Amino acid sequence: MSDVEALAIVSEAYPLVKTGGLADVAGALPGALAREGVRATTLLPGYPAVTRALERAEEILAPSPLMGAPARVLRGRAGGLDLFVLDAPHLYDRPGNPYLGPDGRDYEDNPFRFAALAQVGAKLAFGEAAGYAPDVVHLHDWQSGLAAAYLRYDGRRRPGVVATVHNLAFQGQFPAALLPGLGLPPQAFSIEGVEYYGMIGFLKAALALADRITTVSPTYAAEIRTPEHGMGLDGLLRQRADVLSGVLNGVDADVWDPANDPFIVQPYDVDSIGLRPANKAALQEKFGLEPDPGALLLGVVSRLSWQKGLDLLFDSFDLLDRLGAQLAVLGSGEPALEQRLAAAAEARPGRVGALIGYDEATAHRIQAGADAIVIPSRFEPCGLTQLCALRYGALPIVARVGGLADTIVDANEMALAAGVATGVQFSPTTREMLASALERAARLWDDPQAWDATIQNGMLTDVSWRRPAAVYARLFRDLARERGQIRTQST
Ligand code: ADP
Ligand code: GLC
Repeated sequence: MSDVEALAIVSEAYPLVKTGGLADVAGALPGALAREGVRATTLLPGYPAVTRALERAEEILAPSPLMGAPARVLRGRAGGLDLFVLDAPHLYDRPGNPYLGPDGRDYEDNPFRFAALAQVGAKLAFGEAAGYAPDVVHLHDWQSGLAAAYLRYDGRRRPGVVATVHNLAFQGQFPAALLPGLGLPPQAFSIEGVEYYGMIGFLKAALALADRITTVSPTYAAEIRTPEHGMGLDGLLRQRADVLSGVLNGVDADVWDPANDPFIVQPYDVDSIGLRPANKAALQEKFGLEPDPGALLLGVVSRLSWQKGLDLLFDSFDLLDRLGAQLAVLGSGEPALEQRLAAAAEARPGRVGALIGYDEATAHRIQAGADAIVIPSRFEPCGLTQLCALRYGALPIVARVGGLADTIVDANEMALAAGVATGVQFSPTTREMLASALERAARLWDDPQAWDATIQNGMLTDVSWRRPAAVYARLFRDLARERGQIRTQST
């Protein structure tokens, strides 16, 4: 039985539309919350992939004008999720990436596309769809951020608002001149509201106006309050420290399950880890690497961006040769990094393999076949690939930042002796420290007993949504109770 009704507003959700970890979270959290007594319905933009998948849709908000043309809201199920879908073809009926046009650049009307999502989210939150009245609205990143403002400046009684920051690097800032077109009153453009250094800040609005702020790891929650990692919002986040907390992500234990993974050639689990090398052989073949079971095979599954620090790894090919290591990379993103990667694979046949693009099946095959997964991020709010690596028995080699710091136990002598190590960490994120981490990983590889024990610890770590969902459920329940009291007193 659910006693709390939550409305999630988000711009992507696995398996319908995904550009990164945000979609994984939005796709898995509702199911995990349901087990904690929270019923979550997700409002998504009506991208073609979403409307196509929608089953038994009913219209719950009739067409009305929205950013220049009529739009309506459908309710139904798709991809295992209970959905509200904002059917607004003029805003979302575009193929491909949800944010970028075919030229790889942000759509120019993104402020309107996502303000529209937030505005409709606010309508649903106010109970404008018959029979639906959420207790809590859960915002994710800048794309839904303006909902906090629509809810605050309307004046009607509103549910509690939780804003979750998945990545402070994307803030959704737009010229102040857009304000009237966004349907916000002039007083919203203040330092307490949406104003941010003379611009309109969608994420800033959420951080200023939400009742609670969460981010996706405790370490990131602390980091973003510092000038070094606060990306200009650290002052506001320090001010709001009393309502800011870090809740680690999990991974969907059904989607990421080496014992039951349709993408891999040989299923296995912690008790049948001896079967795993068949996946390594398949991966070596797929990436054109030498079929050497003894070579340490490093894997990467990542967006190629400055955040992820992969340029440092691409500076380290000589070291990899010295260590006798192989590298298989699946990634896409910044053209300069894609080119470097392609050139390296060409220059080092049999040693470095690259697949440039986005491919779900290959992501699973790398997790199942690589001996280690390298994540040298400069910052990482949570990170999901290290969690998948733990589950799949690949050693995470990670920078000690954000969620990578919180989820991996470094295989130093003490941790090895205590039997708690799960990976290798390094800090700061520099080429030198990455090199020493790779050397440490290679030494561990040469000590099969210590390696196997570390892998086993990783595989036995609970990286599911069970615990995080319980934390969100408590947060939602507390807020709903608190708002309930406020409702009987004033607004
Ligand atoms: P971020 O959201 O910053 O990109 P996360 O580690 O939180 O990083 O999540 C990344 C998600 O996207 C993971 O599910 C990962 O497997 C997936 N992913 C990243 N790059 C690719 C790719 N090129 N092909 C397939 N999946 C990818
Ligand atoms: C962001 C972050 C990543 C996090 C993901 C899901 O994309 O970069 O660290 O895991 O969101 O919360």
